[in-house]
Amino acid sequence: MAGMIPRSFVNDLLARTDIIDLIDARVPLRKNGANFVACCPFHSEKSPSFSVNPKQQFFYCFGCGKGGNAITFLIEFERLNFPEAVEQLANIQGLNIPYENNSRPRADAKEDHQTLYQLLKDAAKYYINQLQHHPQALAYLHQRGLDDKVISRYQIGFAPKGWDNLLKHCHQHTAALAKAGMTTKKDNGNDYDRFRERIMFPIRDRQGRMIGFGGRALDDNPPKYLNSPETSIFHKGNELFGLYEALQANRSFEYVVVVEGYMDVIALAQYGITECVATLGTATSQQHLQKLYRHCDTIVFCYDGDAAGKKAAWRALGSLLPILEDGRKAKFIFLPEKEDPDSIVRKLGKEGFQQHIHDAVPFSEFFFQELKAQCSDLHSMDGRSQLANLALPLINKLPKGIFQQMLLDKLSAFTRLDPQTLTHLTQQKPPPPSPSASSKPVITSKTRLTPGQIAIALLLQNPTLAVDIGNLDFLSQMKDPFCKIFHQLVDRIQEHDAITIGTILELWRESEWEPILAELAAWHTLVPKDGIIDEFNGILLKLRGQNIESQIRMLLDKAAIEPLTEEEKQQLQQLITMKKTKVI
Ligand code: CTP
Ligand code: MN
Repeated sequence: MAGMIPRSFVNDLLARTDIIDLIDARVPLRKNGANFVACCPFHSEKSPSFSVNPKQQFFYCFGCGKGGNAITFLIEFERLNFPEAVEQLANIQGLNIPYENNSRPRADAKEDHQTLYQLLKDAAKYYINQLQHHPQALAYLHQRGLDDKVISRYQIGFAPKGWDNLLKHCHQHTAALAKAGMTTKKDNGNDYDRFRERIMFPIRDRQGRMIGFGGRALDDNPPKYLNSPETSIFHKGNELFGLYEALQANRSFEYVVVVEGYMDVIALAQYGITECVATLGTATSQQHLQKLYRHCDTIVFCYDGDAAGKKAAWRALGSLLPILEDGRKAKFIFLPEKEDPDSIVRKLGKEGFQQHIHDAVPFSEFFFQELKAQCSDLHSMDGRSQLANLALPLINKLPKGIFQQMLLDKLSAFTRLDPQTLTHLTQQKPPPPSPSASSKPVITSKTRLTPGQIAIALLLQNPTLAVDIGNLDFLSQMKDPFCKIFHQLVDRIQEHDAITIGTILELWRESEWEPILAELAAWHTLVPKDGIIDEFNGILLKLRGQNIESQIRMLLDKAAIEPLTEEEKQQLQQLITMKKTKVI
């Protein structure tokens, strides 16, 4: 994908963009010395460790390690892919992307998406209008207790009876209607309207673009609800009904309530509980949860009190485990049987429902309650070992941190196993395999960097060091992956005239080195400004020294097995002299 947008254009775009403006518009920044800081938008924290460097056009969070240039920020913050982020930046700059020849499809796809958003917007307008012309539909909504204000806030409409109302209304866009999921095909190949005689709930993405619909039958005849199918702009695993409206109503919220139905979200909003969303007839996915934790620290799940509700809650808990970092919270409301949030809020009012939110069962309580129910008597050793066996693999999925430790402590109280033993047991289990985990370069020490790492940090922070750097061919003989990358960095900076960390990092996008380079770019090397060149030369000297030593070692190792050739003997002699005289 990235290849379709010319690299030179991306560099130009980065050069024109000011990362400070870009981020400040989304996450208000405060000046702090040469940098700008804020609380990190990518993990929850109370004091700011997110820092943006205007000179280097680069951001980095010392808390969670996320870092990169303006494009990376958009990808992470707005959940875009690379071409979308470039498109957004290009729009901001008023530039058109000069797609390379073979990339027409990509540009077409963008136009395509725009057509679909527009078409669905027109369809929603049409349905809103139809609602006013179908008194029985409006009466249904009123009878369900909705007032006109909330009907208009959620842009609720009505798809009238008939096979081709929408088709006729959008007659020039038959193919696009099909792509948007608004029509289906008859056996004879002709299209007909998917939604007929249904109340229409438009689904908008976070930016407010119309992406799909949920349609409810006026009677309870199945299917009671019909939803748009997955399309190129509608991904149920990622979208939440009501999120856009919730964000419109609240600048920020303490918690968000996840309910099951469209009508639940709308009824709660009508009663003034506007921080509510619903999934789209699907289970709650990890993407849903990540999206929500962007906006608040607490997710309150609201389910029926019956077995199905408990099951849904347990599934949500499973999706939560890997992302429940310290500071993020989750709670569960279990409603009385035969009730849903819609019926409860109408019975109990706003305060009554808020009481449910207040009394919601904390994650840890629900967690142990469910697991204990699966075990025999906890007074017996069998029961307690059963509990430990069920709980440990799950606790092990949590991010390392205080919350994980607290659950272990609780488990220890239940099982009477010593907390240290439990911690030991969790640590024995290997973490979930990450792709190419074994070959992955990592910075092992938090306090001391290797010479290769320091060379990279200094170079990234002072790219002009690459200008008069001399011959570095020796680096290609070195085994340390950091030395190899350092060598490449020097080459790239020389080739590309890359002058900020932001533009340099762009060259490593999507490589496993990207986060490592970001980390090193933000590393406090503690070298005073006027000492940088000396320090850098010192490090290069050290690297050359290391290289000589490893070559000497290699030749000596070989000599232990077989006699060296004349040439090798000479080479060894030279190396030893170099090492002794330090002329390298
Ligand atoms: N749902 C669906 N398809 C169905 C039934 C339900 O997609 N055939 C989804 C809808 O998103 C619906 C949610 O599941 O809003 C909850 O379903 P349900 O509890 O049956 O409906 P309610 O939201 O209570 O709707 P209503 O009050 O209108 O009966
Ligand atoms: Mn209901």
